[in-house]
Amino acid sequence: MPRTALVTGGLSGLGLASVERLRADGLEVLVLDVEPGGDFVVDVTDVEAVERAVTQAGPIDVLINSAGVVGPQAPLWELGVAAWRHTFDVNVHGTFHLCRAVVPQMRERGWGRIVNFASIAGKEGNPTMAAYSASKAAVIALTKSLGKELATSGVLVNAVVPALIATPMNADTEPDVLARLASLIPMKRVGEASEVAELVAWLASDKVSFSTGATYDVTGGRATY
Ligand SMILES: NC(=O)c1ccc[n+]([C@@H]2O[C@H](COP(=O)([O-])OP(=O)(O)OC[C@H]3O[C@@H](n4cnc5c(N)ncnc54)[C@H](O)[C@@H]3O)[C@@H](O)[C@H]2O)c1
Repeated sequence: MPRTALVTGGLSGLGLASVERLRADGLEVLVLDVEPGGDFVVDVTDVEAVERAVTQAGPIDVLINSAGVVGPQAPLWELGVAAWRHTFDVNVHGTFHLCRAVVPQMRERGWGRIVNFASIAGKEGNPTMAAYSASKAAVIALTKSLGKELATSGVLVNAVVPALIATPMNADTEPDVLARLASLIPMKRVGEASEVAELVAWLASDKVSFSTGATYDVTGGRATY
């Protein structure tokens, strides 16, 4: 029987590339996105809608939490409270809602793989992106805590930590911010979504067996730890 994966944010960018890559590995892949076009039109901030979708989906072996927003870009003291909270709602609470809904059935079956999308911003803190950076640091800590909680259960939880990757997410990012982020990458290029999806596919498989609560770098050499 093929394994089933649920990919949030699966209609665009890194989520979409992960969907395609997991399908190439033979998985049944369900797409959950706030935009129409996938299997579940759900806002990950809505815990009840998330729980309904997970119940409808049936057994989920692999969960990829890719839904995310860049959030407001300005110095912290100029950030609006609502925009700050929305960034945390999607990036952190959304990831929490999905993990919370899916983990019990994975534990019961004794096998599962969860891949959360963090960001290099969560390790280093990008200026004018405090909401995004802090939310991704929270995703890293959530991943580490949950990974330890599930370490003997057969359910492995890891995070991917990309730097700048060419996706629609960056369409609204200020050009000077993008130029600065690109200049920080030692490989002197922006990453491709398929390069991230390759790592996601490995983390979603049996090939990963002795890693959990870990953060996997895809930054073209930018990360220093
Ligand atoms: N692209 C990059 O440079 C980059 C770098 C580091 C980390 N990331 C992270 O990777 C993940 C994917 O980013 P991307 O570049 O593919 O972005 P994207 O904007 O191309 O795709 C994000 C997807 O998430 C969906 N989404 C947004 N809010 C949602 C919500 N509330 N509920 C359900 N779905 C929602 C969108 O509709 C979209 O399909 C994000 O978590 C992002 O923070 C991206």
